[in-house]
Amino acid sequence: MLYPRTGENNLTTNKLLSFPKGFIWGSATAAYQIEGAWNEDSKGLSIWDTFSHTAGKIFQGHTGDKAVDHYHRWPEDVQIMASLGLQAYRFSTAWTRVQPTGQGAVNRAGLDFYDRLVDALLENGIQPYLTLYHWDLPQPLQDMGGWANRDIASHFAEYARIMASRLGDRVRAWMTLNEPQVAALAGYFFGEHAPGLRDPSLAFQATYNLLVGHGLALEALRSALPASAEIGIALNLSPIHPASSSDTDQLAAQRIDGIMNRLFIEPLLLGSIPPDVQESFGAFLPNPLPGDLKRISAPLDFLGINYYSRAVIRYDPDVPIAQASQVQPIGNEYSLMWEIYPPGLHEILTRVWNDYHPAKVFITENGIPVPDGLDLDKRVRDYRRIRYLRDHLAQVHQAIVDGIPITGYFVWSLVDNFEWSLGYHPRFGLVHVDFESQVRTIKESGRWYAQVIRDGGFDTQVDDEFFPR
Ligand code: FCB
Repeated sequence: MLYPRTGENNLTTNKLLSFPKGFIWGSATAAYQIEGAWNEDSKGLSIWDTFSHTAGKIFQGHTGDKAVDHYHRWPEDVQIMASLGLQAYRFSTAWTRVQPTGQGAVNRAGLDFYDRLVDALLENGIQPYLTLYHWDLPQPLQDMGGWANRDIASHFAEYARIMASRLGDRVRAWMTLNEPQVAALAGYFFGEHAPGLRDPSLAFQATYNLLVGHGLALEALRSALPASAEIGIALNLSPIHPASSSDTDQLAAQRIDGIMNRLFIEPLLLGSIPPDVQESFGAFLPNPLPGDLKRISAPLDFLGINYYSRAVIRYDPDVPIAQASQVQPIGNEYSLMWEIYPPGLHEILTRVWNDYHPAKVFITENGIPVPDGLDLDKRVRDYRRIRYLRDHLAQVHQAIVDGIPITGYFVWSLVDNFEWSLGYHPRFGLVHVDFESQVRTIKESGRWYAQVIRDGGFDTQVDDEFFPR
């Protein structure tokens, strides 16, 4: 065994963090980031195929054409999951494999692929957690305006119905959308993600129609799935802290909190648009049609929270519309992408629980990019990732002790993969992938996580001595 087991002393010093029996330990991926096979077996073109094939959009021109070839290597990947002892695997299905143009005819080969994957997971005792939309909209639907066009919401519901009728007898846990906020803001406002637009009106329309799409898909799933199915959504939520105590910074932080967090969670869990968001950004928001908010806020069985970091915000009159910008506070540690801020996870969980009382919560993503590679002995010593996961799991543990019903945790990600506009540069996996040879190597973090799963927790004190900074 690589890491020391908990000694009796640690139990008495109260450093053993044991998670409740039945807590679900998993890991997550998304179709475009891992599958590859972008044009095989009649798969249609998605906005990410188009975007990644457009010069200048992705770090060093990387694409998801091959990604980590999961479309062909899934049996090996399932075996790796089984060897880690994963109890659940969160993945997304590519709409374009199932409906190549986003509407109409179903492509059998696409459905068969997910069918086989689900069977293999279940044979290995791994529960599938299926996300229907992780950003890869069929290109023909983008040509109709994408999420800025309300019709897309109905097409999405039809795709949800198709997936539910094929896999609903075996998949118990469903998520409609992954991070609608990123899909709308990065895709339509900042232009950093597909479809690469920079238009505030379109971004707010897309936001709204994504929520409508969630509502319609939820209805379709409820009617097509057995009553035992559990349906949720995965939102990225972060504490938004003001850079100073000045009124202008505090108001700026509140505005950003409005469009990053509350514009998503409040329609979904309260059935309303936050009044201050309406006041600041109402000019861009479509008027809800009768019945919309009721649909959007239909009860969920769980809320998925993706957490990576917090944002610290200052007033910035030079930024149009939001009049705010992000600052990088000094003194904390940073990863390749974000500030490392574990207490933010406890903070957001507490706030979500106090303000919105979801039925239950999963951490559907949490992880860190570490520039790790194979040592001469072919081990990947990603101690920094272990520390990150340990420190965030400790926050989850505290939230459970506080009484928040958190029922599972998914590490982002199972394998190193295509990190959107940053290509293959950031590595998030518990499993290292050599992108040339496609050889997989379980990292030290993967071994550590497997031990956590076996033990149902971990010992913070012993770990600290073991994982050098
Ligand atoms: C989240 C995405 C996921 C991955 C991580 C790092 O925003 O849902 O696909 O890129 O960030």
